[in-house]
Amino acid sequence: MKTTTRAPDAGWLEQARRITGGQVLTAADDLQKYSHDELATPQYNALPAAVLKPGSEQEVAELVALCARTGVPVTPRGGGTGLAAACVPAPGGVVLSLEQLDHVVEADPDNLAITVQAGLTLNRLNQEAEALGLYFPPHPGDEGACVGGLVATNAGGARAVKYGTIRRFLLGLQVVLASGQVLELGGKRLKNSTGYGLQELMLGSEGTLGIITRVTLALLPKAGSMQTLVVSFADLDRALDAVPGLLASGVVPCAVELLEHGVLACAERHLNRRWPATRGRASLMVILDGPDEEDVLGQAERVSAALERAGALEVLLAESPARQREILELRSLLYEALRPATAELYDICLPRSQIAGHVAFVHELEARHGISLPTYGHAADGNLHTHFLRCALVDGAIGEELPGWRELLPVVRGELYADAAARGGVISGEHGIGQAKKAYLEANLGKAVVETMRAVKRALDPQGILNPGKIFEP
Ligand code: LAC
Ligand code: ZN
Repeated sequence: MKTTTRAPDAGWLEQARRITGGQVLTAADDLQKYSHDELATPQYNALPAAVLKPGSEQEVAELVALCARTGVPVTPRGGGTGLAAACVPAPGGVVLSLEQLDHVVEADPDNLAITVQAGLTLNRLNQEAEALGLYFPPHPGDEGACVGGLVATNAGGARAVKYGTIRRFLLGLQVVLASGQVLELGGKRLKNSTGYGLQELMLGSEGTLGIITRVTLALLPKAGSMQTLVVSFADLDRALDAVPGLLASGVVPCAVELLEHGVLACAERHLNRRWPATRGRASLMVILDGPDEEDVLGQAERVSAALERAGALEVLLAESPARQREILELRSLLYEALRPATAELYDICLPRSQIAGHVAFVHELEARHGISLPTYGHAADGNLHTHFLRCALVDGAIGEELPGWRELLPVVRGELYADAAARGGVISGEHGIGQAKKAYLEANLGKAVVETMRAVKRALDPQGILNPGKIFEP
């Protein structure tokens, strides 16, 4: 790939100001906020040369055309909630923030669809859906995430067991290509055999193939009832062993989250709130939904019976929405709570039958290296989060920094990724590759697959200006 990229000069910034009506940031204080995502460690952080804040799709197209004419690298950014350093700018490059493109373009309940600008947050999207009496099921933890970023990472979250990831809800896209040309892809149709799936190509492309400016998403009728079960087990492995029986019970849960009580203690301290289960060392949190309460209580009975057969110690049902929210919050804030102690967080996704074997391998690494690798996650879709901790964790409190963790980190990361690959897993189930995992992409997918990805990148971005250095090296 040609590397003709260069940094913007004063004349360039003047042109960007003309396009955006002055919405260009260059002061060091302003740039700081755009130098990182939510990854715990700062090694990828980099200040952009400038931040461009277009107010319309047309301005995005004009800015990208300017970048193309002048060879300036451009990194799109939504909520900045990513965990792979994908929206961190390239050296000398600019950030194109979509934060001002946060409007609903069209709500279309007759087609169970909504078209929004890419900078609308998940929180706002949920409110808009709710106002229509509808429901947007995918729920990647952080509601500050923007819709464009959800597509660009093919975000997942807890409810993927029943509803799948963003992929399943993506109906249409407006994308600005590296040339500045605007493409309209897909629409409000549920089927499409009309040529290449260019829209699907943008899923997980992390800003390297085009800049997403509008998204049409499918919505579902709102579930009439929702319940949360917290079911405790003697330990993590017992909890995990119970999942196949649960999935065979005939009930398709929204979410089956795997949690260790020792790790939850950190979130308990953070929120000053207790996890409801008191017995055993691990829990499954099962979220169920359905058309009405009777239906969901029926599901809960079947799930409880299956989990009791698998050795559950206690089964607790949270019915009130407030109680369910409290429990979910403890789960959702786990990463935030562990973050000060975390050097790295993984989001390996495995065929479900391989999870127990992989977790056994995680335990083996803990014993072999004398470290703790707390693991939790989305048990029923095979997507696990293992934290590499820099510090000891004692009763949920973050303790001393562990000597030698820096040397151990790449060793453990390499072993985890190799084990995942050997089990038919991928190194990222929902957070993306960004910069944090690109060194491992080829080992995971094979040379031919990565070469094909590079060919797509060359075809769509011949100058290499779109978010260079993410997913693979330029
Ligand atoms: C979660 C984020 C880290 O599942 O993906 O909490
Ligand atoms: Zn997750």
